[in-house]
Amino acid sequence: DWTMGAYREQAIAAIREQVGDEQVICGLSGGVDSSVAAVLLHEAIGDQLTCVFVDHGLLRMGEAEEVVTMFRDHYNMKLIHAQEQELFLGELDGQSDPETKRKIIGKLFIDVFDKHARPIGAKFLAQGTLYPDVIESVSFSGGPSVTIKSHHNVGGLPEKMDMKLVEPLRELFKDEVRALGVELGLPPSFVGRHPFPGPGLAIRCPGEITRDKLEILRRADAVYIDQIRKHGLYDDIWQAFVAILPVRTVGVMGDGRTYDFACALRAVTSVDGMTADYYPFSHEFLGETATRIINEVEGINRVTYDITSKPPGTIEWE
Ligand code: XMP
Repeated sequence: DWTMGAYREQAIAAIREQVGDEQVICGLSGGVDSSVAAVLLHEAIGDQLTCVFVDHGLLRMGEAEEVVTMFRDHYNMKLIHAQEQELFLGELDGQSDPETKRKIIGKLFIDVFDKHARPIGAKFLAQGTLYPDVIESVSFSGGPSVTIKSHHNVGGLPEKMDMKLVEPLRELFKDEVRALGVELGLPPSFVGRHPFPGPGLAIRCPGEITRDKLEILRRADAVYIDQIRKHGLYDDIWQAFVAILPVRTVGVMGDGRTYDFACALRAVTSVDGMTADYYPFSHEFLGETATRIINEVEGINRVTYDITSKPPGTIEWE
């Protein structure tokens, strides 16, 4: 793509100009935006870049391995894999209020990032902020603002650590970021991944989080995504995931009674995540997926499909 080729060269020159020979740190979530930002920065400044990948124990199945393999082993980036599952799950233990859960995760995320970033002595913090993020914060200024959900990012960190921001994607929209990612050699399958929220599976596990529930959720989610890919629907959907419900229900399996968790499947189409419509799966698809989840995932005996659009719903359950 000619446009993205030109953008890439110009962005690389701008990054070099801005950071000189200083160290830069970048929070890598494994999502498309931070991944494209990291690869672009790495191309511009090589080993002056250190990425921090915080594993809070709320990732999907196989996610941490995928990110570490791609960035450390394939791209040879300096990557800190901060394994902080005990810390996060410990602090979240017994917490069921959605905003409390988000605040705990956001605060710990900054603490962990700070702990690993400080010794590097970085003068710059790189973020994969996109144009819509910039617009959104501007358009709300001055008017009344309502916080529906406190979003998780590394806000507050630049002041705390006296760093300046590097935001090489701030002129781009999501589809342009994807095109730039492909231009930079990221695999199309990676660049086309559905967005994944910073608080991860915590907000797909309404109520109290337990390790058992997280494990059941990971396995159900993997079956659901596998179904969506097998039916060739992945790229038509903005986001798809399973939420495990904080309720157990009675079922029957063979000649036995079961008493296991219910789950909800979610799939939406959207342009920017601000509004969304539920995805109109066929009944055959839904039936087959429910059967697979119940047969393959111990701990779930009931599957529902969430047909709420946004508004009035939100995409995530918390
Ligand atoms: P909601 O649930 O508000 O989500 O309709 C809209 C989009 O934002 C994602 N999301 C988040 N992303 N940090 C993120 O990086 C967060 O705290 C967060 N909360 C929601 C959500 O997955 C959807 O794409």
